[in-house]
Amino acid sequence: MRTQVGIIGAGPAGLLLARLLSRQGIESVVLERRSAGYVLGRVRAGVLERGTVELLQETGCAERMQRDGLVHDGFEINFDGRPLRIDLAGLTGGSVVVYGQTEVTRDLMDARGAEAGVTLYDAEAVSIADPESDRPRIAFRQNDRAGVIACDFVAGCDGFHGISRTCIPASAVRTFERAYPFGWLGVLADVEPCSEELIYASHARGFALASMRSPTRSRYYIQCPLDISLGDWPDERFWAELRGRLGPAASERVATAPAIEKSIAPLRSFVAEPMRFGRLFLAGDAAHIVPPTGAKGLNLAAADARVLARTLTAFYKDGRTDLIESYSDRCLARVWKAERFSWWMTSLLHRFPDADDFARRLQLAEFEYLGSSRAAQTALAENYIGLPFEDAS
Ligand code: APR
Ligand code: PHB
Repeated sequence: MRTQVGIIGAGPAGLLLARLLSRQGIESVVLERRSAGYVLGRVRAGVLERGTVELLQETGCAERMQRDGLVHDGFEINFDGRPLRIDLAGLTGGSVVVYGQTEVTRDLMDARGAEAGVTLYDAEAVSIADPESDRPRIAFRQNDRAGVIACDFVAGCDGFHGISRTCIPASAVRTFERAYPFGWLGVLADVEPCSEELIYASHARGFALASMRSPTRSRYYIQCPLDISLGDWPDERFWAELRGRLGPAASERVATAPAIEKSIAPLRSFVAEPMRFGRLFLAGDAAHIVPPTGAKGLNLAAADARVLARTLTAFYKDGRTDLIESYSDRCLARVWKAERFSWWMTSLLHRFPDADDFARRLQLAEFEYLGSSRAAQTALAENYIGLPFEDAS
């Protein structure tokens, strides 16, 4: 099989890239090791930055998002029961859209299904040959059948556990990592959200987040130790712990129902540099991970897909190779700012097991500074709604 761009992974990065390329008449084949149903069954975050919203509009598959997405002009930080509203709209003129990653993926899959491009599900990429040549090849396996895709470029959009990053020789890549000593226990339930806006709560018992997918579906998280097992967290225990952390007003409004989904996610910061090796480009979680506190994971994946699509379009349309050379630097400039922001929000709002009283006082001072300074709130708000794209292309 031969194509222009071989894309490994049908998460948001891979599907969005495929769509942006096809809008420019550039052909791609997407390989996904799971089934389409499995990919759609994964519950992920759901806050879209303004730039991500505009990008989805550019792809022509934003109709459902425009209809069902919830525009949020602010959110609350609740610190030991003290609420502080961050007025995104008032501080920046911007807002975010709450629309689940699952729905974004579904919209992109539907759009892909309706166009010429090939997507192979249950097809696992196993290796990438000759990424430094102008004819790289992806070897894959689908239902015990081996196949090869010859392409001009490979886009490694296969997430943190994918193979693309590991195909770069260790001597050519440097990684930066921070693991946090806790995770998030998340519950999805068909109940009305306890608040119209998201609430990020820092409490003596640990962090909690009240989020949503729709006016009838809520998404809640609580900070948890890494070694807990789901069996120890029946729904009633989760609801009680959540209520204890959210602050009095919201707690009273938490409606409960059996969890549709319950899962534990570790928190991690990770960056691989550079994000390109020859004609192999990394995009999204394959190159970087953020803790979910700033809701940046999906937005960073979308931003990479945007940069890569413009890079490859400039190559095919105008023969430009300069953007290929600068791809990694342009992505990383924005990635590191999102890494900083996600680390900062995580550090402000969580209870660290080894933190002493001094550390907690610093968190409190940070919260009080936020409360008293419009400049500090603006810095938070402009990062939350998404920093501008650094666009040479
Ligand atoms: N071959 C083919 N597909 C693979 C392989 C492989 N060897 N390895 C992994 N994949 C697939 C995974 O099954 C997954 O569907 O690559 C896809 C990667 O998708 P995501 O993990 O969603 O990563 P990305 O598209 O970069 O999106 C980042 O997703 O994980 C969240 O929080 C993260 O919101 C962020 C977003
Ligand atoms: C979510 O709705 O899943 C969500 C929202 C905001 C975050 C993280 C996750 O910061």
